[in-house]
Amino acid sequence: MKFRTFAFALLYTVCAGTLQAQKYEGLADTPPMGWNSWNKFACNIDEQLIRGIADAMVESGLRDAGYIYLNLDDCWHGQRDSLGFIQPDPVRFPSGMKALADYIHSKGLKMGIYSDAGRTTCGGRPGSYGHEYQDALQYAKWGVDYLKYDWCATEDINAKGAYTLMRDALRAAGRPIYFSMCEWGTAKPWEWAADVAHSWRTTGDIFNCFDCVDQHPGWAAYGVLQILDMQEGLRKYAGPGHWNDPDMLEVGNGQTVNEDRAHFSMWCMLAAPLILGNDIRNMSAETQEIILNKEVIAINQDKTGIQGLRFLREDGLEYWFKPLTDGDWAFCILNRTTEAKSCTIDWQRFNLYDEVSKRFTDFDSKTYRLRNLWTKKEEGDTRKGRTLTISGHDVVLYRLTPVKK
Ligand code: GLA
Repeated sequence: MKFRTFAFALLYTVCAGTLQAQKYEGLADTPPMGWNSWNKFACNIDEQLIRGIADAMVESGLRDAGYIYLNLDDCWHGQRDSLGFIQPDPVRFPSGMKALADYIHSKGLKMGIYSDAGRTTCGGRPGSYGHEYQDALQYAKWGVDYLKYDWCATEDINAKGAYTLMRDALRAAGRPIYFSMCEWGTAKPWEWAADVAHSWRTTGDIFNCFDCVDQHPGWAAYGVLQILDMQEGLRKYAGPGHWNDPDMLEVGNGQTVNEDRAHFSMWCMLAAPLILGNDIRNMSAETQEIILNKEVIAINQDKTGIQGLRFLREDGLEYWFKPLTDGDWAFCILNRTTEAKSCTIDWQRFNLYDEVSKRFTDFDSKTYRLRNLWTKKEEGDTRKGRTLTISGHDVVLYRLTPVKK
């Protein structure tokens, strides 16, 4: 009897373990990098644009710098067919999604698509509600590699249930697909979504400005600084395979070069997904220099996978640290004000212990070499303090590397 009970319990455990779906592992050891159509093109997308973007991702060097996902956002949809399978808009995507995915793959890129857990998307197109398994199958059949899953028209659906359902549907469809939750942080996904998705939006939408709020009745969109402030307290929830997502980049969409540099630097310090949102077919030299700076990207893509921390706010300046591999740190000073500011760095003031990485900067007994990642110059080491000037809405970003004794 005892043996039968034991055998039954064992069988149950094995079966339950096998049946329980899991997200695909190994797709997001570092934050995803790519491009998405929404910030620049909103609903004005078609296959010609997407093919042009694919070409530009290769020609501009973006693909080789790590930006591999080409993600279609809202409004690619047509209707469901008689069996309920979603089809693309036949006017905008006459060649179909499989052909588009093949083209994207032929360029060495991966393809992303967008849907919504509710009955309709935010742009009023068909949502996946009631069609989750069917949609996942369709995406897998087309060769999709990334799904952004939005939260409009969800009425009183439970967020954890809805996102877990889609995770299971993606798993059942059998193709490894990066799962990007876009639930705006309403149900605190950082507390429960590490096993559900590869990243989760932490806030409402980004607005293309550095320091403002775009307020509407019932909802708002937020500038770069506002989104940055909303990341407070979330860093301990992120790590390899599961990232906080403070929304897509607005770099190259009209803010000043200083602001673009600060925005990009801070998203790197946050270990955020780096999803571009500008027209990469036509970029200024300044924009290219920012988004293609490999040493800055390396801060974001560092294998340690630990989000940066804000150590100090003082006189309109913020001092951020991010632990990196091999004992390195990224150190970023952000000027939130519109005026240039000077500050004197006394390294001993930054003797900090980071609870998340369990690392200590230890400027008393360690010396670090300083490399300025935007000027690309070596700037001595931390044995001596230094005085710096940071332009308005700009950053200074260093990589600190311990000097071997
Ligand atoms: C929501 C999302 C955005 C974008 C739009 C599309 O607002 O948060 O990122 O996908 O929907 O309609």
